[in-house]
Amino acid sequence: MEAIRFKNDILYLLDQTKLPAEEVWIEYTDYRAAAEAIVTMVVRGAPAIGITAAYAYFLAAKEYSGQPAIQFSASMARARQKIASTRPTALNLFWALGRMDSVLERFGRSPSALPSLRAAAQEIHREDVEMNRAIGRFGAAVVPQGAGILTHCNAGALATGGYGTALGVIRAAHSQGKVSMVYADETRPLLQGARLTAYELVRDGIPTTLITDSMSGSLMRMGKIQMVVLGADRVAANGDFANKIGTYSVAVLAKHHGIPFYTAMPGSTIDLSLPSGEEIVIEQRNGREISHIRDIQLAPEGAILYNPAFDVTPHSLVTGIITDKGVVYPPFEENLRALFG
Ligand code: MRU
Repeated sequence: MEAIRFKNDILYLLDQTKLPAEEVWIEYTDYRAAAEAIVTMVVRGAPAIGITAAYAYFLAAKEYSGQPAIQFSASMARARQKIASTRPTALNLFWALGRMDSVLERFGRSPSALPSLRAAAQEIHREDVEMNRAIGRFGAAVVPQGAGILTHCNAGALATGGYGTALGVIRAAHSQGKVSMVYADETRPLLQGARLTAYELVRDGIPTTLITDSMSGSLMRMGKIQMVVLGADRVAANGDFANKIGTYSVAVLAKHHGIPFYTAMPGSTIDLSLPSGEEIVIEQRNGREISHIRDIQLAPEGAILYNPAFDVTPHSLVTGIITDKGVVYPPFEENLRALFG
């Protein structure tokens, strides 16, 4: 399963707002439309946002490649600004743009960078899948035999270049016969767990039980869950991390029940420049995502709506951080710097 394709300089995105009812691929040749796809969550998930941003930057370079170098450089700066202002929390977006920038700089910010920008975006895409496979290998080793595993949101193939981070761990562990059941939180308000995670896992034949977000504590108490694994949008140097709203609640519940709690991500999500999760910018989204489900109104007019897309989980609640270079345990600051510094 994949959410992003690139062929003949056209970017194709699987419209995740329509899943699982419809599988619709949308074509993009305009970087502005690709940036809008990130905002409206046609494409979502930290690594997938980064990959899309890289392709969008390439599309901008292609559009402006007929301009003289000085004008081209200014046009690319404006395009970068547009792409960078889509979603603030996932580091992968800025990491991917930074990598594309270094290619642009190498060619003096001139249109001659075009073939190398294309190759760099494709490399970012390809590398992401490889990193997810490595995350899966490292993560599977910490999954207990016969585990019931809880996950939140969607950190799967749809959220990445393919295979997934947290779902990569689950896929690898399942192939080793270690997984008895995956419990997928539905993940309000946009239901990435119900619409995307359950869809991916069912398609892969992995036993999956869909639950509402409020059910996980009760299942932990019943002894059904032996491990939690979920994704991250940004990890700070001390191991605090931002992920889909509701992650913090899951972490507190896991701690209370003595259940190992892991987050999984590639190095492109780890931000050693931020000392702690306090400094992570949390995206606030339109309250309509809470008051409505698609066009159905659930709440009365006049209620104040609070809709942060992410929350921060402190490192004290984290058992281990599963990365493409290995599983990192406390002290996180020291051990993350040793691997990614
Ligand atoms: O708002 P979303 O759907 O982009 O949020 C996605 C998540 O929170 C994922 O867990 C995270 O981006 C990691 S994806 C491998």
